[in-house]
Amino acid sequence: MKLKNILIVDDEKNQRDILQLILIGERDELGNSLYNVKAASDGHEAMRLFKLNRFDLVLTDLKMHGMDGIELLNELSQMDSSIPVILMTAHGSIDTVKEALRGGAFDYLEKPIGRTELLETVARAVAKMRAVDEEIVGVSDAMERVKKMIVKIAGSSSTVLIRGESGTGKERIARAVHKASPRANERFQAVNCAAINENLLESELFGHEKGSFTGAHAEKKGLFEIADKGTLFLDEIGELNVSMQAKLLRALQEKEITRVGGTKSIKVDVRVLAATNRDLESMVKEKRFREDLFYRLNVIPLDIPPLRQRRDDIVVLMDYFLRKHSANSGGKPMKVSNDARRLLMDYAWPGNVRQLESAIERALLLAESDEITVEDLPMEIRDVARIEGSGGFRLPAEGIDFEQLEKSLLIQAMDQTNWNITRAAKLLGLSFRTMQYRLDKFGLARPNRGGKDEFEGDDDANGE
Ligand SMILES: Nc1ncnc2c1ncn2[C@@H]1O[C@H](COP(=O)(O)OP(=O)(O)OP(=O)(O)O)[C@@H](O)[C@H]1O
Ligand SMILES: [Mg+2]
Repeated sequence: MKLKNILIVDDEKNQRDILQLILIGERDELGNSLYNVKAASDGHEAMRLFKLNRFDLVLTDLKMHGMDGIELLNELSQMDSSIPVILMTAHGSIDTVKEALRGGAFDYLEKPIGRTELLETVARAVAKMRAVDEEIVGVSDAMERVKKMIVKIAGSSSTVLIRGESGTGKERIARAVHKASPRANERFQAVNCAAINENLLESELFGHEKGSFTGAHAEKKGLFEIADKGTLFLDEIGELNVSMQAKLLRALQEKEITRVGGTKSIKVDVRVLAATNRDLESMVKEKRFREDLFYRLNVIPLDIPPLRQRRDDIVVLMDYFLRKHSANSGGKPMKVSNDARRLLMDYAWPGNVRQLESAIERALLLAESDEITVEDLPMEIRDVARIEGSGGFRLPAEGIDFEQLEKSLLIQAMDQTNWNITRAAKLLGLSFRTMQYRLDKFGLARPNRGGKDEFEGDDDANGE
């Protein structure tokens, strides 16, 4: 188990030392330390340490001279909005604390802080981290941030909008939020809004009364009622039609629903997590998605970067999937040859983590020894390498997956040009319009939506 890194900030030396000693002394049942602890005597020193180290948790005193706890909280959040912060405060500052909790603090401890209280509060935070670590495999900076963010937001009941390309792990993230939340022992109910026929979706979500439509032979509870006290995961939220958007908005705002054909309002206590791979802002501009619903959903945004933008994760995910699917190799431990490894690491992964998982699963089935070789990898991965290696490119007799190949090439061109459509189009010998059309076709949106580098030059906007 990985040690958790904790930063303590307090201007009183005694207090600082005691907290540090208590935390450092904490061991697991095998006698291993649980926490790595550093201490800072004021906000400025804290910021210096924060820039140099990767912390999982910060405990800060509220009243300090120089930079106080709230100012530090703000500065920390500006550097890393995902870091969980526990405020330590004297009795009577409860209003400030409540304010801080709304502003992004994770929890608080009231002074004088007892040993048990300290250990319990920290252990609670760390238990959430471990729940998330179990669910989400990833070591890239981007995923470390996402994981900390999940820990930080798990306690609230606010709606979370999880966005990312297909296969990036959105549902997995949703489960992690649920597992780290106080609702963990209640139901996690997922529903795919795109998979259910528009007419049925309303009764699926909100239930119906007996006889409310042909075929409604008995009354039925909807998923909002079924998930009461738990978490409801609305997948592919971008596919809701306008009338369902209005109904969902009401459910989120009023926290109550009405069954189809019913008249009475039913209170529900559900935490809603939503996911999409669509560009909802554009849909709002085009009036295809209600703006008010968008803001209602997007209270906490979680953007999951595509795998190609967090390449550090490829190796750990690869090892994880090798273990997970090792039954396919008769349970014997499997290695990956250097050549195969290189291909896997360099590939653009247009289908993201899901594509990586199925590549490994398949390779395990095909491998003839205890080593996965290039021959065991899916065609589309080998094809890209072959094109890159160029020279004598020949289509394999088994044929290729043209769509996957096209998508990989588009992504590669876009990545190489820092998502400048004009330059990427030139690389591929396509017109701007064709390029745009193809990007749309695969739903390839520019990463870091809303980032400050939104427009690199105006050549994109002018077209050809
Ligand atoms: N960080 C991760 N750690 C472990 N497994 C992961 C991770 N991310 C994704 N997976 C696995 O990859 C597969 C795809 O993930 P998931 O279904 O959550 O993606 P998604 O973003 O919801 O995709 P889609 O948009 O196509 O619905 C699942 O089998 C999931 O368990
Ligand atoms: Mg999904």
